[in-house]
Amino acid sequence: MASSSTAALVPRHVAIVMDGNGRWARKRLMPRGVGHKAGVDALVKVVQAAAARDIGYLTVFAFSSENWKRPEEEVSGLMSLLLVALSKHLVKLKADGVRIRIAGDLESVSPRIRDALRGAEADTVENSRLVLTVAFNYGGRWDVVQACRAAMAEGVRPEELTEAVLSRHMAISYAPDPDLFIRTGGEVRLSNFLLWQSAYAELVFTDCLWPDFDADELDKAIAAFARRERRFGDVGASGQGEGALGGAAEPHPPSFSEER
Ligand code: IPE
Ligand code: IPE
Ligand code: MG
Repeated sequence: MASSSTAALVPRHVAIVMDGNGRWARKRLMPRGVGHKAGVDALVKVVQAAAARDIGYLTVFAFSSENWKRPEEEVSGLMSLLLVALSKHLVKLKADGVRIRIAGDLESVSPRIRDALRGAEADTVENSRLVLTVAFNYGGRWDVVQACRAAMAEGVRPEELTEAVLSRHMAISYAPDPDLFIRTGGEVRLSNFLLWQSAYAELVFTDCLWPDFDADELDKAIAAFARRERRFGDVGASGQGEGALGGAAEPHPPSFSEER
């Protein structure tokens, strides 16, 4: 638990479903790909804003395991955009202390994409100011299944499989559980993002389309987070009697990553 109540005001780990690129472009009578390109620019700015706010972990949904259903032209456009975005922004992100990590099934993506993503991870491995996890070909259900498989492959027996053991095998086991889960674009659903890890995340849904999301929007989401009382199944500050912390009683969810 943090020692001061202000520690609860800034989430340690923010997860974002960056949704609404297509509609942003359509509103401007432009092809969806233009929205995805604007989405990359928004991401770069939000990464800087997150680092400036001492957020330690930012995990963004870039491409879901279900996004392969999209027209081939859009999928190949997104793959090309990823390569362009990495070559354009990697140097600056690295200089800013950002460590890039990838969560997702990279076995079934093209070697070019896989190499570029693994290269970005290797290139920024020394950094620690902000861990930016890019969820790519990621699905929360995939993550649970791959974690079970990894535990079984390690020889974990059924009676040894606990929440802590499974957590250690999940894709972002290096990060504490998300405190704040933001979805832009107006839809009120998780769309298979971080299902296991977000058990006690505070959810913030905004109509803001992802390319319009910026530092001010991030601050609005953090302000909403700071107003929440996190109880984690307990009774919370109002039920604790006198002397209990007011407001956000416990700043962070119990996280298995802290046990290691
Ligand atoms: C999110 O924006 C980006 C990806 C899924 C890659 P969308 O492309 O889903 O945009 P909308 O939801 O159609 O507006
Ligand atoms: C979620 O958005 C995936 C990403 C943002 C990468 P989608 O646009 O794919 O989600 P649905 O289809 O509206 O649920
Ligand atoms: Mg969408």
